Amino acid sequence: MIDLDRLRADTPGVEHVAHFNNAGASLPPRQVHEAVVDHLRREAEIGGYEAAAERREHWEHTYEALARLLGAHRDEIGVIENATRAWDMAFYSFAFRPGDRILTGRAEYASNWIALKQVADRTGASIEVVPDDEHGQFDVAALERLLDERVRLVSLVHVPTQSGLVNPAAAVGRVTRAAGVPLLLDACQSAGQLPLDVRELGCDILSGTGRKFLRGPRGTGFLYVRRELIERLEPPFLDMHAADWQPDGTYRIRDDARRFENWETYYAGKVGLGVAVDYALEVGVENAWDRIRLLATRAREALAEIPGVTLLDRGAVLGATVTFTVDGADAAHVQRVLARERVNVSVMEAASAQLDFGARGIAEAVRSSVHYYNSDEEIDRLVDGVRRARTA
Ligand SMILES: Cc1ncc(COP(=O)(O)O)c(C=O)c1O
Repeated sequence: MIDLDRLRADTPGVEHVAHFNNAGASLPPRQVHEAVVDHLRREAEIGGYEAAAERREHWEHTYEALARLLGAHRDEIGVIENATRAWDMAFYSFAFRPGDRILTGRAEYASNWIALKQVADRTGASIEVVPDDEHGQFDVAALERLLDERVRLVSLVHVPTQSGLVNPAAAVGRVTRAAGVPLLLDACQSAGQLPLDVRELGCDILSGTGRKFLRGPRGTGFLYVRRELIERLEPPFLDMHAADWQPDGTYRIRDDARRFENWETYYAGKVGLGVAVDYALEVGVENAWDRIRLLATRAREALAEIPGVTLLDRGAVLGATVTFTVDGADAAHVQRVLARERVNVSVMEAASAQLDFGARGIAEAVRSSVHYYNSDEEIDRLVDGVRRARTA
């Protein structure tokens, strides 16, 4: 199902590092890198506007590819510079009033929370955090109890930045759909990692990024908004791409999800994002997910056997990200020791995950995150490196 040799041959980075920072940014396939460089070269040769016109089909294809990835229509897709801005463009479009309730979960992402808090403070809406269930995932039954006619939005992080948890998004979507409350799904860490279908998930809005499990270029992201909702959401910023200036001085906002985009954009990145999505679809997201779980389970089991290592992930379904602490070694030290051996991991601090790490008294942790192109031998290098970091 997964042709590991071929996938690694497509990934020049594996010659240099054992990369376990896929939750940060994955190593791109050479096809993505070449598409970006090729577009940049063409811009240098004939001019940026001219290259965009000449290669219109290339960047227009990105909408088609994302729509396929998500089971959406192409007019429901916007390409935006990152997942945060994509999420923001949808979130700040809601007109909240005093007394409105916004529900979120313990996996909420730092930037999303900051936006929720800013808007709540400005408008008099309240934010309420849905508790976790006994598995440590978003409690769907608690959500049902909390819903009433004052709830205007449910914000859910599908897979958080700080752990392997996969929240039960489709179960949440069934509840919000039945209640008629919009569900804003942050799929930043799940896009490319596991299969996503917006109809099955029951989400009304979904945001994602290019550089993580989709293996696209940095500085690329996307937004899905369900057709029926698009025209009810007025973006917080409008420009001459999102709207048309009329002779009488008024403007008309476009009726597709590109109303959330802006005029100037990173065309090379947009082309590269489409190539990355095509690549993900060709590998098969289902296949990717099977292999990711296999590798992550292997890493979890081996790391758990090291004395002094504590795994932090909780949840009924666990994915690529394996977060842990090492007794007597701070996370930056573990990262440094591993980096010397050309093994990449990252450090997660409570400020990225106050409702999870903060609430559990975890100041920081090592975050390792596998992708399907990692090998067993690389996992051994990770585990050996962590073992050495305890004593080094
Ligand atoms: C769960 C989650 N949401 C949103 C983001 C933000 O993505 P971006 O950096 O593309 O804005 C991240 C990035 O790590 C994330 O992990």
